[in-house]
Amino acid sequence: MKIALLGGTGDQGLGLALRFCKAGMDVVIGSRSMERALEASKNVKSRLGGVKIEGMLNEDAAKVADVVFLTVPLIGLIPTLKAIANNVRGKVVVSPVVPLEAEIGGTLRPIRLWSGSVAELVAERLKDSKVVAAFHNVSAEALSDLEKPVECDVVVCSDHDDARQLVMQLAEKIDGVRPIDGGPLSNSRFVEELTSLLLFLNKKYSVKSSGVRFTGLGGVTYFSR
Ligand SMILES: NC(=O)c1ccc[n+]([C@@H]2O[C@H](COP(=O)([O-])OP(=O)(O)OC[C@H]3O[C@@H](n4cnc5c(N)ncnc54)[C@H](OP(=O)(O)O)[C@@H]3O)[C@@H](O)[C@H]2O)c1
Repeated sequence: MKIALLGGTGDQGLGLALRFCKAGMDVVIGSRSMERALEASKNVKSRLGGVKIEGMLNEDAAKVADVVFLTVPLIGLIPTLKAIANNVRGKVVVSPVVPLEAEIGGTLRPIRLWSGSVAELVAERLKDSKVVAAFHNVSAEALSDLEKPVECDVVVCSDHDDARQLVMQLAEKIDGVRPIDGGPLSNSRFVEELTSLLLFLNKKYSVKSSGVRFTGLGGVTYFSR
């Protein structure tokens, strides 16, 4: 299975690329610039020898991948969706995008979208794809520190059961990550907004990678039963 990280030249995409490569997955870094895509994939190769990673333009990365991550900022989301729409029909598309006021020059407060969440906005635009919301509460800092487990729950929401399960399986490949079945895509609004609180806590406690753990869910396996 091939995973594409669009905008994978940035912190979050690169962090996920490192973790998925470390887990032995086949990864493609996407970018608006071929040069930046190649540079980022070279960077991953230099940190992890013998891994399967390539760099491509976002459109091409979306075309060759089975699972496509939208690791771009909210401000670049719609142009990215327009560029890849024809290449992601029938595929799983993952949104980790957090709607922050900071994107429009404001604070770390969340922006309320008419769709309810960024992930629901993506689903409105990509009607033929299986949209999944995940990885909002995992910091890039934690992902890129390969010496340590990530220590964070990843809540995965989707209206497509098979796609939700697939992304939970991918999340579980990351050392320290526990996937949580977050149910329908409409629940993604809570998960997206929680990141604003985590960013506040990072500042308050002078740390870079606060995360989240849910308690009381029972058992060691958190997949849907
Ligand atoms: N950073 C974190 O810790 C973190 C944690 C949880 C969730 N997230 C979410 O993950 C996503 C990526 O985060 P990030 O910190 O990696 O973001 P970023 O560094 O700001 O951007 C990632 C990449 O997106 C591309 N990009 C930037 N502006 C764009 C535009 N206007 N149109 C299209 N592409 C554009 C750039 O790649 P090219 O120039 O190479 O195309 C850039 O390297 C965001 O939505 C964020 O909310 C981030």
